[in-house]
Amino acid sequence: MRLTIVAATGGIGGQLLTQAVAAGHQVTAVVRNPARLPDLPVRVVTADLATPDPAVLRTAVDESDAVLSGLGARSGAEAGVASRGTRALIEAMGAAGVRRIVVVSAASVGTVPSPGRPNPPRHNPGDGFFMRHLAAPLAKAAFRRHYVDLALMEDALRDSGLDWTVSRPPRLVGGHPTGRYRTAYGQNVRAGMFVSRANVAHHMLDVLDRPETVHQVIGVAH
Ligand SMILES: NC(=O)c1ccc[n+]([C@@H]2O[C@H](COP(=O)([O-])OP(=O)(O)OC[C@H]3O[C@@H](n4cnc5c(N)ncnc54)[C@H](OP(=O)(O)O)[C@@H]3O)[C@@H](O)[C@H]2O)c1
Repeated sequence: MRLTIVAATGGIGGQLLTQAVAAGHQVTAVVRNPARLPDLPVRVVTADLATPDPAVLRTAVDESDAVLSGLGARSGAEAGVASRGTRALIEAMGAAGVRRIVVVSAASVGTVPSPGRPNPPRHNPGDGFFMRHLAAPLAKAAFRRHYVDLALMEDALRDSGLDWTVSRPPRLVGGHPTGRYRTAYGQNVRAGMFVSRANVAHHMLDVLDRPETVHQVIGVAH
């Protein structure tokens, strides 16, 4: 497939890149700093998604079969980039006639209110006692601005009319892609405390041509 991989210098984005190239896909990498890319046979488009340029993004997605995004704020101060950048990608995809997009969000976002989901459930149905009462409240306090950004990103996708899938991992860790992880549609994975970036990328690539994953928020965890 022809894939546009956004934030290909990030943890998940880098895994998306190497796994997609290894699988024989034709890849366009969208990054703000090309010097950080590994030496791989990909087309590179430079874009700072905090201030997206529609013409550049249009070039990046043109003739792609799908867009995969590992975009996320590296700090609280940069929060807002996931929603702003994804909105710009949605517009570029609309202009180019590209329909499929798979993005990474976060497990805690399911209970974060947003204009599109003003009354989310108080607890994620997949979360057990520890996640509900300790881990989730702590994470939400520490990463509030990131989660609001990701909730707005999810709103934009729900309104986009595109064929979107949102991957919602819990805590990210290192490790090789094993393909051994659990998924849960519309909720977090039961007792799923962490997942490797490599396996999130594996999952994002795996859903690409699975129609049952379109318009789905999917929990992914070990
Ligand atoms: N950390 C966790 O435990 C956790 C848990 C659940 C979900 N998440 C979510 O998963 C996302 C991906 O995780 P990760 O570990 O892959 O994150 P990461 O390594 O911080 O990657 C974030 C990517 O976004 C890119 N980016 C940020 N601002 C940009 C801008 N203005 N223009 C263009 N690109 C920009 C970064 O580019 P540069 O490489 O140039 O900086 C980087 O490639 C996180 O951002 C977070 O939203 C994280």
